[in-house]
Amino acid sequence: MTSLLVPRAASAMAVRVDDLYFALIALCGAVALIVAFLLVYFSVKYRRGSGAARTTPRKTRAIEIAWALSPLVIFFGVFVYAARLYITMEIPPPDALPIYVVAKQWMWKLEHPEGRREIDTLHVPAHRDVQLIMISQDVIHSFYLPAFRLKQDVLPGRYTSLWFRADRTGTYSLRCAEFCGARHAYMGGKVVVMAPQDYARWLRAGTADPLARTGAKLFSSLGCSGCHGPHSSVHAPRLAGVFGGPVPLSDGSVVRADEAYVRDSILLPNKQVVAGYAPIMPSFAGRVDESQIIALVAYIKSLSVEPPR
Ligand code: CUA
Repeated sequence: MTSLLVPRAASAMAVRVDDLYFALIALCGAVALIVAFLLVYFSVKYRRGSGAARTTPRKTRAIEIAWALSPLVIFFGVFVYAARLYITMEIPPPDALPIYVVAKQWMWKLEHPEGRREIDTLHVPAHRDVQLIMISQDVIHSFYLPAFRLKQDVLPGRYTSLWFRADRTGTYSLRCAEFCGARHAYMGGKVVVMAPQDYARWLRAGTADPLARTGAKLFSSLGCSGCHGPHSSVHAPRLAGVFGGPVPLSDGSVVRADEAYVRDSILLPNKQVVAGYAPIMPSFAGRVDESQIIALVAYIKSLSVEPPR
């Protein structure tokens, strides 16, 4: 919907959010108007001294049931629509293109798996599901895309995620929507939605290593491969094929190996020890920053989707 009130929606999901938003305004406005009208109407009709009939109408029960039930049905319908929309927005499609976001005072660092990195400008392809995996290096920020009707807090110490599918090419605004310090108001940028072939060309123009390869280099320079490598004599879990699957832990529970699990395993290795292994891994907290962790995560992910490079 285009209007003076909101920027033009750039995704089908944003259109659904608008439909919900304007339906709620219309419904609540209608209810408020009806109540206000009846208030004035009855005040005049039954004012002191008026000759209006004051007997109880015969169909009281029917009236009571009707006015209680009809809003219930209408607003429950709104709830169902909103809940379904919320679930759609919360669960990214499994084949979404991952792009990593690191927030810091006061900029957005954006990292594409193919290796392109950018600051405050995010290039994405149109007509493709894109999932942002986000973390903050300092305080709480909030990634806000008005044209997509999306806003998600970006937290230190924990990944949060957001996904969208842009329908139209163009440039849209990107804001930080959480007060995060002196230059919060300037922490913004833009999202550039490109035609898929333009995006592919833009990606190819980058010269940096793919994230997974950066991660692979870190993996050996930090000494991870000394224990987790294929020729290691240390009794440490092998990492190929781990990502995305279930991991049995020494306390008997099972976790799914997602980005958060890999990050925790690097920084808090004793938190979730894999069943059958001793908690001998040192923590890498303070030795790697969030961008490096993201590269390591991308590397470990790559071991599960393609042969190791
Ligand atoms: Cu970052 Cu406000």
